[in-house]
Amino acid sequence: MCVKYKYLIFLFSLIYSILEISSKFEFTNVECKSLDKNFADFEYCYIKSVNRSYKYLSLKANVFKKPITKLKVNGALFKRLNGYRPFMYNVTVDACRFMDNKNSNPVAGYFFDFIKLNSNINHSCPYTHDFIVDKLSIDEVNHRITNVLPFPEGAYMVETHWIAYDIDRVVVKVYGTLS
Ligand SMILES: *[C@@H]1O[C@H](CO)[C@@H](O)[C@H](O)[C@H]1NC(C)=O
Ligand SMILES: *[C@@H]1O[C@H](CO)[C@@H](O)[C@H](O)[C@H]1NC(C)=O
Ligand SMILES: *[C@@H]1O[C@H](CO)[C@@H](O)[C@H](O)[C@H]1NC(C)=O
Repeated sequence: MCVKYKYLIFLFSLIYSILEISSKFEFTNVECKSLDKNFADFEYCYIKSVNRSYKYLSLKANVFKKPITKLKVNGALFKRLNGYRPFMYNVTVDACRFMDNKNSNPVAGYFFDFIKLNSNINHSCPYTHDFIVDKLSIDEVNHRITNVLPFPEGAYMVETHWIAYDIDRVVVKVYGTLS
């Protein structure tokens, strides 16, 4: 390996570690809304601050029409500048197809990584159960954001629409700040 290349790698890892130290994500809010209460509704949806260093997000969506054999998820990232504006992504993924091949969509893969350990959605269709995200901690989110993709500071919101049989059924918005 040539010296210049090694130096470049060193420089990048230095910048990376500085970014990693300086960026810190905090949840500020979560909003869950059913658009079709005959299809699904939320039993709970909240952020809990246990103490200064331990904060987590939990939610449960009860599904009344099971099984679900056709599910799409639309996700978009917003950044606040005079209100929340679309910032980077606007992706709609066929969740059933994605679950069968997680490499098929890298952006979806990036977002899926946030919740895969803390939710019950990591399996192929059909979905025969309610949806749960259990104690997704701020530390796990921080680890993802700072280690995987450094974002600029600011207030952000991730808006997700859960679309079953091509009808928008529920919306989940997660708000947070990166400092
Ligand atoms: C915060 O709460 C968690 C879980 O109860 C605990 O493990 C941790 O030690 C607490 N941290 C502080 C700083 O009190
Ligand atoms: C994302 O794209 C869809 C389809 O093109 C559109 O309906 C939706 O409004 C877009 N969302 C955002 C946040 O721009
Ligand atoms: C998700 O499911 C796949 C396939 O069953 C499995 O290989 C993987 O370990 C699971 N990931 C998590 C985080 O549970």
